[in-house]
Amino acid sequence: MNTHPKHIAIIMDGNGRWAKKRLMPRTVGHARGAANVRQIVKAAHAVGLRYLTLFAFSSENWRRPPEEVSALMGLFLQYLESEVAEMKAAGIRLRVIGDRSAFAPLLQSRIDQAERDTAHNTGLHLTIAANYGGQWDVLTAVRAWQAAHPDRSLQELDPAALAMHLSTSDLPDPELLIRTGGESRISNFLLWQTAYTELYFTDLHWPDFDDAALSKALQWYSQRVRRFGRTDEQVQHSSAVEHTPTPDLVIQNGIKIG
Ligand code: FPP
Repeated sequence: MNTHPKHIAIIMDGNGRWAKKRLMPRTVGHARGAANVRQIVKAAHAVGLRYLTLFAFSSENWRRPPEEVSALMGLFLQYLESEVAEMKAAGIRLRVIGDRSAFAPLLQSRIDQAERDTAHNTGLHLTIAANYGGQWDVLTAVRAWQAAHPDRSLQELDPAALAMHLSTSDLPDPELLIRTGGESRISNFLLWQTAYTELYFTDLHWPDFDDAALSKALQWYSQRVRRFGRTDEQVQHSSAVEHTPTPDLVIQNGIKIG
């Protein structure tokens, strides 16, 4: 049986359908989704989770109708403006990953401010992925590695070196990825970082994913056998493996496998 994961990543899907079912505009669904972010961050903090990473806006979400994009940007700004003081007091550290250069200057400066204000907090480490794409993250990491090592050949780049240049380089890989909204795909989220992650899909729409739903996902996770490429027999007979799911940089053959 696994202990609680240290790092959970969530694809918060289903806001639009939540609203449609209630004959309301999609933007109302997003507003309810933002309110639920507050709730789940509190719940995660309360159960002692170390890292929570939320997919708030993908690099593909710019293709949505402009009014919806603008509503999402507004909610993000509002979230930063209303939550950061409380996060600061509660010991939550906030970081944003993704290409923020595409955001309005005001939003960029609020993100910078929020990161500065909470930088020394040591409680829950909340990461919001905004204008984020997993392919972008890997490509950016490769380019950053090359820029940092102009005299070396790409043949020398290995998984551990690449991981050090990902936007999540200071986080352990998530042990559990939750996706709400009934779809079973990764949608260009943490592609590299979820290589060994347990994937949990629920039909609940994001605004309905409450504390009880989080507990159910944790319960499901606790029953998973994590093999990291080994056989069931190896897992059962190796006491070392029984203690493996502490993902803080378990390095094997140079690969971060947590
Ligand atoms: C997917 O639902 C959700 C999003 C694209 C955005 C997620 C945003 C929030 C939860 C609110 C803002 C975030 C923060 C951090 C304050 P969907 O619109 O694709 O739903 P559908 O699949 O039912 O159409």
